[in-house]
Amino acid sequence: MKKDLILIVGASGTVGSEITKALKLQGYQVRVTTSKSVNANDKDTVHINLATGEGIKAALDGVDRAFFLSPPGYADQYRLLSPLIQEAKRKGLKKVVLMTAMGANAVETSPFRRAELELEKSGINYNIIRPNWFLQNFNTFWIQGIKEQRKILLPAGKAKVSFIDARDIAAVASTLLTSDNLNNRAFDLTGPEAVDHEQVAKAISQVTNKNISYQEIEPDVLRSGLLAAGLPADYSDFLLMILSFLKEGYNASVNENVKFILGREPKNLAQYAHDFKQSWL
Ligand SMILES: NC(=O)c1ccc[n+]([C@@H]2O[C@H](COP(=O)([O-])OP(=O)(O)OC[C@H]3O[C@@H](n4cnc5c(N)ncnc54)[C@H](OP(=O)(O)O)[C@@H]3O)[C@@H](O)[C@H]2O)c1
Repeated sequence: MKKDLILIVGASGTVGSEITKALKLQGYQVRVTTSKSVNANDKDTVHINLATGEGIKAALDGVDRAFFLSPPGYADQYRLLSPLIQEAKRKGLKKVVLMTAMGANAVETSPFRRAELELEKSGINYNIIRPNWFLQNFNTFWIQGIKEQRKILLPAGKAKVSFIDARDIAAVASTLLTSDNLNNRAFDLTGPEAVDHEQVAKAISQVTNKNISYQEIEPDVLRSGLLAAGLPADYSDFLLMILSFLKEGYNASVNENVKFILGREPKNLAQYAHDFKQSWL
């Protein structure tokens, strides 16, 4: 029997690339999206731009199941996700897995929550996954400070965070995309332990033999850095807002959802630091 065609939005990204790899290994037909230009010979990649809505209708043509995310850089995630959800509903998809973020459901009117509610009410079978802060931020967003100043520079205080490895988020998303056993449920996803940024710095120091430390900075200092790096002001403010929640301890709780869905423990900080050592050398 022909396996379902699965659309992955954000397929070149940290989570989407791992989902794509996993599904292809299982023999699924996978269609991936990019906002960049597409080579005419590449029949498995389609162009979409969620900021403008361009390409969404064609991307969902003939698709059975889909993974949706809102790319970083946009503070109004509802504006980007709603047209995808509406089109999935029009086309009668068998299932949508939507990734938002841990805490997204704290305020019913937040853009991420509005997208979740739209999917929940759409009549499409769905799962919502709400991951905590990714471990992979230390080899992507925060890498410059680590490599150039040997410092993790964040307004995070001494708060503990149950960071999750993005490879586990992708494994969960792939499992939920290809099974209907847990339909119509939302899952907060955390790692197996809550650690502070000093412990992250120690773990990176250990695998790299470099002296990496954590230094707390004022939110305004980070804001200037984000703006200088080209992030829009509203998205920079969104990041500072969620970092203030982190500092207050809202991202410390650990749950068993990854183990419940995958039947194995999530990866921990030591495993992540070991596997991504090359990034910081
Ligand atoms: N990082 C964290 O700690 C964390 C924690 C919880 C939740 N999240 C959520 O995770 C999501 C990000 O996931 P990720 O880190 O896997 O993403 P990512 O690595 O930043 O990749 C973003 C993806 O979006 C695509 N993209 C960029 N602009 C686009 C546009 N205008 N239209 C369509 N696609 C576009 C990119 O591909 P092209 O460049 O090829 O278009 C890329 O594949 C966000 O919604 C964030 O809120 C992140």
